[in-house]
Amino acid sequence: MAKKILVTGGAGYIGSHTVMQLLLAGFSVSVVDNLDNSSEASLERVAELAGDCGKNMTFHKIDLRDRDALKKLFATTKFDAVIHFAGLKAVGESVQKPLLYYNNNIIGTIILLETMAEHGCKKLVFSSSATVYGWPKEVPCTEEFPLCATNPYGRTKLMIEEICRDIQLGDSEWDIVLLRYFNPVGAHPSGFIGEDPRGIPNNLMPFVQQVAVGRRPALTVFGNDYSTKDGTGVRDYIHVVDLADGHIAAVEKLFRSNKTGCDVYNLGTGKGTSVLEMVEAFEKASGKKIPLVMAGRRPGDSETVYASTSKAEKELNWKYVFVSYYYCRAKYGIEEMCRDQWNWASKNPWGYGKPNESADPST
Ligand code: UD1
Repeated sequence: MAKKILVTGGAGYIGSHTVMQLLLAGFSVSVVDNLDNSSEASLERVAELAGDCGKNMTFHKIDLRDRDALKKLFATTKFDAVIHFAGLKAVGESVQKPLLYYNNNIIGTIILLETMAEHGCKKLVFSSSATVYGWPKEVPCTEEFPLCATNPYGRTKLMIEEICRDIQLGDSEWDIVLLRYFNPVGAHPSGFIGEDPRGIPNNLMPFVQQVAVGRRPALTVFGNDYSTKDGTGVRDYIHVVDLADGHIAAVEKLFRSNKTGCDVYNLGTGKGTSVLEMVEAFEKASGKKIPLVMAGRRPGDSETVYASTSKAEKELNWKYVFVSYYYCRAKYGIEEMCRDQWNWASKNPWGYGKPNESADPST
């Protein structure tokens, strides 16, 4: 029998790519999403792309704070594990509207965890973020680094990590993997699914992509006076399909052993790339010129952040999951990330919508 996985936030960017990889790996997947910041079209495309495996997916439009709806779902399906993506993630908005973030991210998670416990489902993969390292004193960041948060969004990630550690300490039946993502970019190589942010993109590559298709005039570079190779911020960009595969590896680890406890892994490539290097790679992949406007540093930004990948390589054992590839770590570099990002952007310049369907008038 195929193992049944509940994916919260499965219609979003990382969620939809993970659902795709789960289906291909033979899992049965139920997606829960309130579609606040995502579109069901992503899942329709996943179903098509996954071919025969696509029929092993169901979608439920549920907000995690709707305890009754969630309970009903758990009453009808016995899940073997949950991958929890659902949450708000815009740093700036979280500063303006902290209660919205605490309400959505923290309360949603608590209700999910309570419902899981009530139904005896105690295996969880949680999507955390490298944001919990703040401005690290040194790089690469190992999982043992001190943690901090500089905004309400980051604090919700940190709090949920702590909640997970606490529930596992209180009840050893819980097996939890916390995954700290570095900077997911790119899209499925088919160009069928990709990132489709609502409103003005906060992150680098969605913005670059919208400049390339003519939706925005120029990229604003936030700071060129950092102590880095070219003065711009350095990050660890990881192909979203590699990141999705990391979740399969995490779920497999939960099923391999009942003694995971609450463990944490970085998902990155271990390589640092500057803003200008990323723009150059994207220009090469797309053949488009990206006009730049130099500006001051963005508040809360760190200078250089990249991952130590050794713990994930050793213990998550990606190579066991994808035996045919013999990969034990992220396999794509920035050329493939930019190639696939452009493939998605050029085929879907307005994401899953149409030009006159913009969800946000400020776009
Ligand atoms: C940001 C968030 C982080 C979150 C992560 C993933 C901030 C301060 N941090 O991380 O909490 O977990 O996204 O969603 O928002 N850049 C530009 N111009 C732009 C956009 C970005 O120059 O229009 C630069 C940034 O200054 C940075 C790099 O590009 O040096 C990457 O930025 P971004 O994609 O927003 O990711 P993070 O800053 O790493």
